[in-house]
Amino acid sequence: MKNSENQGQINATQPKATDAKAVKNNAKANFVEPTSDAATNLKELFVDSLKDIYWAENALVGALPKMAANATSAGLASAILEHLDITQLQVARLEQIFNLLGEKAEGKKCEAMAGLLKEGDSIVSETTPGPVRDAGIIAASQKIEHYEIATYGTLVAFAKTLGENDAAKLLTQTLAEEKEADCVLNDVALNTVNIVAAE
Ligand SMILES: [Fe+2]
Repeated sequence: MKNSENQGQINATQPKATDAKAVKNNAKANFVEPTSDAATNLKELFVDSLKDIYWAENALVGALPKMAANATSAGLASAILEHLDITQLQVARLEQIFNLLGEKAEGKKCEAMAGLLKEGDSIVSETTPGPVRDAGIIAASQKIEHYEIATYGTLVAFAKTLGENDAAKLLTQTLAEEKEADCVLNDVALNTVNIVAAE
């Protein structure tokens, strides 16, 4: 048997991602059937996404005090507590948006936020209290902020496309607050915490 033929046989049983035909076949096999309550239009996806972030923000309200309590840096603790106040405002803002849309304000478990908070707990328990734990708390908090920035960025775009301009304005305010929180965490890390943690 020639080498080229042998190669062909291997490809037939071990499809590569670069093999367009194999990718197409996999796409068929990997197709996910929609649930009975699956969103059928952008408006429904928008509302579902709002429920998801509503759950996430409420979960954060519960988790931030613990993060602040485990921070040693006064600057970090106050940044987290300040963000707790802002998060409570964001929850109220989401309720305002549900109201604008004529929808009931209700949360739907956000698996991503649940995972990020679980990872945050692990980071805290796996670091000794002081600057190293502070650096870990900032790392976990920035992952959360980046998730929120991505979420609100999408929600603003959805709201604009749907012509929900009042909702878009409110969501843009929250997006700006999340970006600001990320900047504050960056400053605390780069100007103090990371430097002390490295000593
Ligand atoms: Fe938030």
